[in-house]
Amino acid sequence: MDHPIAVIDFGSQYTQLIVRRIRELGYFSRLYQPSELRETGKPAAVILSGGPRSTLEPDAPDIDFDYLVELGVPVLGVCYGMQLLNTKFGGTVAPGNTREYGPATLMPEEGVKGIFDDLVGHSQIWMSHSDTVSELPEGCQVVGRNLDGVPVALKWNDRFFGIQFHPEVSHTKEGTQILRNFLNLATDLPEFAISSFKDELAARVRETVGDKRVVCGVSGGVDSSVLAALLHEAGVNTRNIFVDTGLLRKNEAAEVQSLFAEVGIEIETIDASKRFLEALKGESDPEQKRRIIGRLFVDVFFDAVGDDVELLAQGTLYPDVIESATSGSIASTIKTHHNRVDRIMELKAAGRVLEPLDELFKDEVRELGRVLGLPERVVGRHPFPGPGLAVRCPGEVTEEKLRIVREADDIFIGLLHEKNWYDTVWQAYAAIIPTKTVGVKGDERSYEYALSIRAVTSEDAMTAEWVHLPYELLGEISNRILNEVPGVNRVLYDISTKPPASIEWE
Ligand code: XMP
Repeated sequence: MDHPIAVIDFGSQYTQLIVRRIRELGYFSRLYQPSELRETGKPAAVILSGGPRSTLEPDAPDIDFDYLVELGVPVLGVCYGMQLLNTKFGGTVAPGNTREYGPATLMPEEGVKGIFDDLVGHSQIWMSHSDTVSELPEGCQVVGRNLDGVPVALKWNDRFFGIQFHPEVSHTKEGTQILRNFLNLATDLPEFAISSFKDELAARVRETVGDKRVVCGVSGGVDSSVLAALLHEAGVNTRNIFVDTGLLRKNEAAEVQSLFAEVGIEIETIDASKRFLEALKGESDPEQKRRIIGRLFVDVFFDAVGDDVELLAQGTLYPDVIESATSGSIASTIKTHHNRVDRIMELKAAGRVLEPLDELFKDEVRELGRVLGLPERVVGRHPFPGPGLAVRCPGEVTEEKLRIVREADDIFIGLLHEKNWYDTVWQAYAAIIPTKTVGVKGDERSYEYALSIRAVTSEDAMTAEWVHLPYELLGEISNRILNEVPGVNRVLYDISTKPPASIEWE
C-alpha cells in the first residue's frame, strides 16, 4: 500500500500498539526498523517509537536524520523518539536517576494548536522513561508540561513534534486524539478498511498463486479458517487439510467439519490422535512436548499432501512476523513454536510459503472473516494454541488429563456463553495442576487433581489482565466442574497478569 504511516521501532513494548491505533483510526501503518527508513517508500508521516535504551549510550539506536528531514512529512517522536529528535536538533538529554513509570497529567500550553487541538487537557498521560530532555535547542517550543511544569511535549518546527508520554496506551486518556491530530498534519494519508482490503488481498493471492496448487492446514481456529475462506474467495486451487491431533477441545473435530461444510469449503480430515498420544508418552518437558507435536504435525501433514508441495499457505499474523523478526527478543524465545520446523523453513527459503494475513492483527483478521462471510462462532472464537490441550496438561499428557481439561473447558466455556461473558473475555480455559491434592469423597480421603481456570482480556496476547468474573459465576463454574468431572477435587481461579505470567500454563 502506498504512503504507509511508518512507525520506526526503537524497541518499546508498546510499539505495535502505535500501529494498531493508527489502523483503528482508518489509516494504514507498518512497523520498520530504524535502518529501514529508506525502505518505507513514501510515508505519509513518520512516528519514532519509544525504546528501552538511552540516547546517551555510545551505540544507541539511531536514525538517518537527514533523510527524515528530506522526506518533508510530519514526524512525531514518542519517548525515546522525542529524546533522539531533541539531540538531532542540537538539544541535550540528561540521564534520569530514577525511572518515571505511571500516570501524570498533561497541561497543554495556552493557545497551542496542532497535535493538541480539541483536547480537554488536564488529562491523564502514561509515562515510562528515565532519561529526560535537558536543554532545548533554539526555536524549540514547549507545547505541554506536567503538573510540575516539566516539559512533556515539544515542537521543533511545523513538522517535528515530540511527546515524552505514550499516546498509544489506553491509560493516556486523550492519546488517540493526539495521534489523530498529528495525522491531520499529513497529506496523502493511506485509508485502510478491511472491507476494501479484502479485495486487494484476494487479488494478491490470485496473482501469487496463478495456476499453482496450494495446500493449507486448517484447525478450526480463527486464523486458519479466515485463511481458507480467503483462498476460497480468491478462487485458487486449494487442498485444505485438517489434522485431528487428539489434543482438541470437546466435539471440536466434528464442529470443524460441519463449519466448513456450511460455508462450502472442502476439507480433508486426518485422524492422527493415536499417533500424537503415542509420541507424547513419557514426555513431560514442555519444550520437548511442543517439539514432538510440531514435528509430528508436519509429518502427518506432508504424509497427506506428498512432498511436491507447490505452495503452502500459513495463517501467520502481523504480530508473529514482528516477533520472529526481532530475534533475540524475549518474545521470540518464549514463542518457540514459530518457524521451528525445518521443512517449512526450506519451503519458506524456496519462496513457497504463502502468508496472506501477515500484515493483519488478530482483530483485523476477525473482521476480515466477517467480511468473507464466516459465522460469528468462528470469527469470535477465543484463540487456541497450536499444541492444543497439551499445553494445558503440564507433565506427561495422558488420556485421563485430556478428558479432565476437555470436560472442564466445556463446562467453563459453556457457562461463559450462557452468562454473556464469552465475548468480554479474550481467552479462557481450564488447565490441570499436575499434583494430586487431598479431598474427601464419602468417608474416604481422596487424592485427585487440582484444576486452574483462567480468563483474560488482552491486546494481541502481548499483555493480559485477569477478568474479574463475578463470585457467583466462579462459584457455579467450580461447583459444576467438581460435580461433573471425575478426577478433580479442587478448582482455583488464576489471578495472574501477563507479564510476569504467560497466558498458558506451559
Ligand atoms: P502465552 O502463553 O505465550 O500465549 O502468553 C499467548 C497466546 O499464544 C497462544 N499460545 C500458543 N499458540 N502455539 C501456538 O500456536 C503455542 O505453543 C502456544 N503457546 C501459547 C496462547 O493460547 C495465547 O493465545
